[in-house]
Amino acid sequence: MGRRIAINTGGGDAPGLNAVIRAVALSALNRGWEVLGIRRGYEGLLDQEPGGLITLDREAVRGIGHLGGTILGTTNRGDPFHYPVEENGKMVPGDISPKIIERFRSLGLDALVALGGDGSMTLARKMIERGLPQVVGVPKTIDNDLKGTNVTFGFATAVETTTEALDRLHSTAQAHERVMVVEVMGRHAGWIALHAGIAGGADVILLPEIPFSFERVCEKVRARYLAKRNFAIVVVSEGAQEEGGEAIYKMGKDAYKEHAVLGGVGERLGRRIEAQTGCETRTVVLGHLQRGGSPVSFDRLLAQRLGCAAVRFLADGKASGLVAQVGGEIRLVPLEDVVGGTRGVEPTSDTVQTGRDIGICFGDEPAGTFLKQFEAATKPA
Ligand code: F6P
Repeated sequence: MGRRIAINTGGGDAPGLNAVIRAVALSALNRGWEVLGIRRGYEGLLDQEPGGLITLDREAVRGIGHLGGTILGTTNRGDPFHYPVEENGKMVPGDISPKIIERFRSLGLDALVALGGDGSMTLARKMIERGLPQVVGVPKTIDNDLKGTNVTFGFATAVETTTEALDRLHSTAQAHERVMVVEVMGRHAGWIALHAGIAGGADVILLPEIPFSFERVCEKVRARYLAKRNFAIVVVSEGAQEEGGEAIYKMGKDAYKEHAVLGGVGERLGRRIEAQTGCETRTVVLGHLQRGGSPVSFDRLLAQRLGCAAVRFLADGKASGLVAQVGGEIRLVPLEDVVGGTRGVEPTSDTVQTGRDIGICFGDEPAGTFLKQFEAATKPA
């Protein structure tokens, strides 16, 4: 039976969105279905002007698979349950979900492919409760923190970009004999910091999942200078916290945006390291550079596998869920298993242990660990 489906992209952009859009469109068109792209999350459904909806025919998706961003646009202020509406001359958060569902049905659409992270999947679940017929989610986020799947597209590219930045920062750190503190994204999950930190040869990696001791970080820096390395690379995830401390935010949550924006831990840490150790220190915040650019081949392939699987699940039945990679398999996981909380780094994982084995400081080691490692490495045989 021919179907008429829609696709949207919500939350922060991530490399691979266009590759999914193309894969969904092509595999649906090859089944004789029609595909509509909704601009800016759900907003395009209610646009007064034409252009809120794009017919995704072959021409519309030609040559987009390697491009960053999303041809549909995105927003993290597009929650239909907290949408800016005018009331008595003032803008207040209102529920526009009934209008969206009505428009969806009036267009003859029978399913939505929603590309997003935990925020988008939470919205998808609420929209199904309110009457959206079927939603198949595709896991997107550079943070890699979505529950129910062991990988999200966009993450590999962000790790690649961050690793390249660490390689570049090594030259300046070495040339100037400086400590370089590099703040990376990830919200409350340390996946980017962990993977890029190990791949990029960091000396210290601080994750939200492992509260750190400032003393231990300074001990590691001192041990590097004692060993005449005379520079150090400290990778700090934006959500990392000191033992007994709190995460640092640069922007609060408001009535329309679900998440407050983290930021500032790197600058604060850098100033303290310099004051405590006397080593010249600079801080770099990689920020949105980590979300930009073309997806690496891993993300291009993953995006297409997930997009095509989403269409296969739609063809197979009426179930909603998230197209997830579990082990080596792609499955449709219930949205209930995905929403409410995120998936962080396991502090006892093999990857963290790999870092510890090669002497990377995670900030929770016993006092004296790095001075002992220095002594062991310099002791005459
Ligand atoms: O979730 C993706 C992400 O890039 C996080 O890593 C970061 O904390 C947040 O989005 C930044 O949000 P915004 O684009 O609103 O600044």
